[in-house]
Amino acid sequence: MSGLARFGTRLLHLLPPEAAHSASLAALKSGLVPVPPGVTDPILRTSIAGLDLPNPVGLAAGYDKNGEVIDPLLKLGFGFVECGAVTPRPQAGNPKPRVFRLSDDRAVINRMGFNNAGLTALRSRLSARLGRKDIVGVNLGANKDSDDRTQDYVTSLQALNGLADFFTVNISSPNTPGLRALQSKAALDELLGRVMTARAAAPVFLKVAPDLKDEDLADIAASVRDNGIDALIVSNTTIERPETLASHDRAEAGGLSGRPLFERSTALLKAFAQTLNGAVPLIGVGGVEDAVTAYAKIRAGASAVQLYSALVYEGPGLIAQINRGLAERLKADGFTSVDHAVGADV
Ligand code: FNR
Repeated sequence: MSGLARFGTRLLHLLPPEAAHSASLAALKSGLVPVPPGVTDPILRTSIAGLDLPNPVGLAAGYDKNGEVIDPLLKLGFGFVECGAVTPRPQAGNPKPRVFRLSDDRAVINRMGFNNAGLTALRSRLSARLGRKDIVGVNLGANKDSDDRTQDYVTSLQALNGLADFFTVNISSPNTPGLRALQSKAALDELLGRVMTARAAAPVFLKVAPDLKDEDLADIAASVRDNGIDALIVSNTTIERPETLASHDRAEAGGLSGRPLFERSTALLKAFAQTLNGAVPLIGVGGVEDAVTAYAKIRAGASAVQLYSALVYEGPGLIAQINRGLAERLKADGFTSVDHAVGADV
């Protein structure tokens, strides 16, 4: 990372986490964030669900909820960006403070609760950049006070059809009471059936929680396969609190992300890879913080990875650094493409 980017990241840590997030969005919008030299090694080119990616490292949902800084983020070197979660109606989210840096653990706890500017605002931002070739997806959520949460996913998908390259059905946020119940077999089948009927050309992904039991895993895999879901994202944040957590705010309510999520989310990724056996491609998320962790996700079955928390600690130079390290590792192990390494450890 450049000295300037490192300095900027340190400065942000003087602010409370949510203020730092807003400041980082403002910095990206203003063009003040130094753009690292791009990594364009052809070995990094890959594809998932028919989408061609310049590299397999994506931005996870929740950072750019309203699609305000999509293009500056792509310039930092992300192979794809997922904005959202969006809900049909704008929503304030939970009372502040609702995000906590667990610096000693390289982790974050958040209970944002789908704060976002709503569908109409995102729709106009995406319309304004229509025709660009980069891969941009939208994470879909449900309003907290919705009478029919399943319909919320359908409403957003229909309103944004043609404006995004993929849609993620996110039923795994721990911060909307009852949302994770949509992961149960009957609810999930109904939801995915309705969503797949409403979708147009763009692929539809499903994002799951890391806190699944073995029987949930088998049910979800079957539902994903049966309903023709195009990729599975593993995983969202965890409501578990590993014993190892040392930071002051470790008992705050919400979803835990970052380094302490790596092991659990990667084990679940591998379990899905084994169960699905290539039938549905996977995206690995949770504790990706360097080339080693990104490569481990790929070898555990991920066709692409996403990250969020590590950005908080490492700053914007991280993406190029991961991509450089990934290219080196692939070559050192004799792979000629990302695709060849997918599932090497499964
Ligand atoms: C998230 N995450 C998230 N996921 C999602 O599907 N929709 C969302 O709106 C959000 N919002 C959100 C806000 C904040 C502040 C954080 C830290 C995270 C989860 C995120 O996309 C990712 O799945 C996890 O954070 C795990 O990845 P990392 O952070 O360990 O790289």
